Amino acid sequence: MFDFRPDAASKPELYRQLAEAARALTHGEPDPVANMANMAALVWQYLPDLNWAGFYRMVGGELVLGPFIGKPACIRIPLGKGVCGAAATSGEVQLVPDVHAFPGHIACDAASQSELVVPVLRDGAVIAVIDLDSPSPARFDEEDAAGSAELARAIAPVI
Ligand code: SME
Repeated sequence: MFDFRPDAASKPELYRQLAEAARALTHGEPDPVANMANMAALVWQYLPDLNWAGFYRMVGGELVLGPFIGKPACIRIPLGKGVCGAAATSGEVQLVPDVHAFPGHIACDAASQSELVVPVLRDGAVIAVIDLDSPSPARFDEEDAAGSAELARAIAPVI
């Protein structure tokens, strides 16, 4: 049984504890689907105010849907399209306070108002992105961006 009770006094500390939990959950497990599924469950369970949390993987030069929690989503995203495609192409975190103001945003769930997409890098290449959506405008800030990047570094070796 996985017993994780974060007792963080701050958001950076919560992300630190989540990254530690992610490393513990994936330790010694080589299966990437299992590891992405547990990571999606971890963030869904412990980060408040999300309506979608999961992965798109770089497969054959496009992003393909990976393990996630939320409503069924678009399966394939071309590089450069939408928030996920921008993160994958640039290799940089995309912090979007208002998805309706983001050119080319792909609406998978009409409830989504803000979004954070973090590239997962291995050997300098983007191998996946972590996508977090919220029904609240401006749900994510720089602490979420930095914390999610830490989660991406924790999961990178095992997906
Ligand atoms: N909104 C994303 C597409 C993925 S869904 O949010 C799950 C985008 O614009 O890339």
